[in-house]
Amino acid sequence: MAIILGLESSCDETAAALVTSDRRILAHALAGQAEAHAPFGGVVPEIAARAHVDKLMPLIEQALADSGVTLSDVDAIAATAGPGLIGGVMVGLVTGKALAHATGKPLIAVNHLEGHALSPRLADPDLAFPYLLLLVSGGHCQLLLVEGVDRYRRLATTIDDAAGEAFDKSAKLLGLPYPGGPELEKLAATGDAASVPLPRPLLGSSEPHFSFAGLKSAVARAVHSGEHRPQDIAAAFQQAVVDCLIDRTGRAIKRAPGATALVVAGGVAANGSIRAALTGLAAHYGLPFVAPPMWLCTDNAAMIAWAGAERFAAGLTDTLDVPARPRWPL
Ligand code: KG4
Ligand code: ZN
Repeated sequence: MAIILGLESSCDETAAALVTSDRRILAHALAGQAEAHAPFGGVVPEIAARAHVDKLMPLIEQALADSGVTLSDVDAIAATAGPGLIGGVMVGLVTGKALAHATGKPLIAVNHLEGHALSPRLADPDLAFPYLLLLVSGGHCQLLLVEGVDRYRRLATTIDDAAGEAFDKSAKLLGLPYPGGPELEKLAATGDAASVPLPRPLLGSSEPHFSFAGLKSAVARAVHSGEHRPQDIAAAFQQAVVDCLIDRTGRAIKRAPGATALVVAGGVAANGSIRAALTGLAAHYGLPFVAPPMWLCTDNAAMIAWAGAERFAAGLTDTLDVPARPRWPL
């Protein structure tokens, strides 16, 4: 049994967690920065990096105190090394390197997307490779066949915006506070999706790719027309995203005949309508549906520690000169 310390700082959450190779989450500490960025309507990289500097060490100390584990009990240190805002990534990776150097423990540089991709296996011990993963976050919208640790086959990606980006931009157009995704979901619950016609980009196209830029523009036109209630626009937008995700994911299921399950991960997977629709889609194809608990869908360090545990078990560690990578496709 190995104990892994995980660090996350690639966007606007600072987090530290201790997770064991037998799936026990010993501690997870997290500090969000939403209030710091809210006045600007989005994440300001410089403010994010400074907040990570302020918060990361106290969060590591808190996670160690909460778990009763000391640094000398830890078997390896896993830090997000990208993709993300480079200033923030540097803070977490350099902290991980310093701890690894000072303690003599191995360093594991984790791809943040791999953290999301493997997180369902932390929550569900029965989830076996290969599985079809819909990874939907603020920065990414991909369909991946997860064949094993470090083995990802990308079946589809977005040709413009990510799903979470579309949620956040549409929320901003509707005058909702940042971060917009969860706010838009709340507003949509009171609206009538059928009363605002919105496009479904790429619906029915043969390749399972995504596109959301046209949908966002249509939301802008609907808002500016002054003809619709905000809650109706929100509901129509969410329904259009659901329809696109379901159509594209259904297309990918047909291309992944060996998949053991349909899995969703990433911040947008916290959306109730999206989860419900994916549950129905998986049932239609006779596949088990796996979604990690909500808190494990949005950015956190437990998923980074867990990806570290999976890599550590596979003998995949890194040297202290491993670079931070703002762009790093899986
Ligand atoms: O995975 P994540 O925490 O950070 C990235 O790696 O991007 O995802 C954040 C994204 C944001 O775009 C946020 O608005 C969206 O996930 N999100 C949601 C919901 N909760 C978070 N989108 C729709 N409905 C939600 N309930
Ligand atoms: Zn993320």
